[in-house]
Amino acid sequence: MQQENEEFAVLKFRDKEVNLPVIVGTEGEIAVDIQKLRSRTGLITYDPGYGNTGSCKSTITFINGEEGILRYRGYDIRELAEKASFTEVMYLIVFGKLPKESELKEFEHDLKENAMIHEDMKKFFEGFPANAHPMAVLSSMITALSTFHPIPDDPSHFRQDIINLLAKVKTIAAYSYKKSIGQPYIYPDPNLDYVGDFLNMMFKKSPNDPYKVNPVIEKALNKLLILHAEHEQNCSASTVRMVGSSKGNLYSAISAGVSALWGPLHGGANQAVIEMLEQIHADGDNIEKYVEMAKDPNSDFRLMGFGHRVYKNFDPRALILKQAADDILNELGLQDPLLDLAKRLEEVALNDEYFIKRRLYPNVDFYSGIIYRALGIPKEMFTVMFALGRLPGWIAQWKEMREDPDFRIHRPRQIYIGETERPFVPISQR
Ligand code: CMC
Repeated sequence: MQQENEEFAVLKFRDKEVNLPVIVGTEGEIAVDIQKLRSRTGLITYDPGYGNTGSCKSTITFINGEEGILRYRGYDIRELAEKASFTEVMYLIVFGKLPKESELKEFEHDLKENAMIHEDMKKFFEGFPANAHPMAVLSSMITALSTFHPIPDDPSHFRQDIINLLAKVKTIAAYSYKKSIGQPYIYPDPNLDYVGDFLNMMFKKSPNDPYKVNPVIEKALNKLLILHAEHEQNCSASTVRMVGSSKGNLYSAISAGVSALWGPLHGGANQAVIEMLEQIHADGDNIEKYVEMAKDPNSDFRLMGFGHRVYKNFDPRALILKQAADDILNELGLQDPLLDLAKRLEEVALNDEYFIKRRLYPNVDFYSGIIYRALGIPKEMFTVMFALGRLPGWIAQWKEMREDPDFRIHRPRQIYIGETERPFVPISQR
């Protein structure tokens, strides 16, 4: 797949000159391979935020941020969001190909078989305060899973670990919600598909409640989960790789990924967007005031759901979600003043020199919360929904890393700028 390359880059510094090999990806990206840089020159690189650093070779996701392209395993996100189910996409991302009918059937069967969590895990849920953030619960419970499934770190067990996580995290996610609202936990139902089962566990009020999954909601959630399923070396995926590189178990790596996702600059932005829109709405829809605040270098306020490290033209997921928000609200016969507000906010920002100059556009988190609201999902659960969608992506990243012949523990270097050696000062003389 990757092209052989005769070219090299030349690095010249003081009396040293080295030829550095280049690697060309299948979509034409070129990387300078600096693996031998330090041993040959004594130099290291400096790249805070890793904006110029390729941390791995990967076959999972291709993004072209200039042209707004996102593909999982070569398939365009728009096509997948339109035509595939989330379980098909999970399989595609984790195992590298679209499943045949028999493969999908077996996979879905395995997910159903493994959806229950150990009864004793309920005791952990009981121990959390009712107002615990569901992301904290999710991350803790994924680590806790490893105590119930202490599988040795052995490639022959990887498939079972993967199935366990894909099957059980949705149960944990739904239980964390049930815990927060004081309703009984609803067991997974093997008669329902993955997304329908999740909705059932979330919204069925009691085992006797005749709740029926609304197909409009099920379809919308499938789409949302597909759009969140994978996004190459972002903060949480890199965290999963970093933690997984110590050969700790998959559960601990995924739990770390959940924690990384929680922050408002990453997945936590979806909750922050709705809170921001609520605040602007309560403030008389004074969009200009908030746009000015976002531009003010002396204010910490940012337009949440705007900007992206990689997308510099548009985020294709945001385009799909903007249209989907309209469609889904229509289909459900709902109106949401926050959707109109979001559209007006987008328009003002996109016409403002500050946002134009910095190439800041709505990202995936800008419209997703409005859809989650329409589906009845409370805002504290938004980032959990993101995690549920992203799970196959994290797993695929971890699996690819563990199977990579170039595998090494992740261990960056640093440029030390602290004190040079100095004598210890006894406490009485400080
Ligand atoms: N509102 C106002 N100004 C912004 C924003 C924003 N949302 N995003 C970036 N900027 C400005 C920033 O202040 C800086 O300005 P200057 O050059 O004058 O210092 C410039 O744009 C570049 O920003 P940056 O922080 O260097 O960009 P980054 O690539 O490091 O950060 C980001 C990307 C997504 C963290 C950032 O755009 C941001 O904080 N956005 C809001 C949070 C958000 O929506 N996060 C979700 C990201 S997409 C999904 C996901 O990852 O989960």
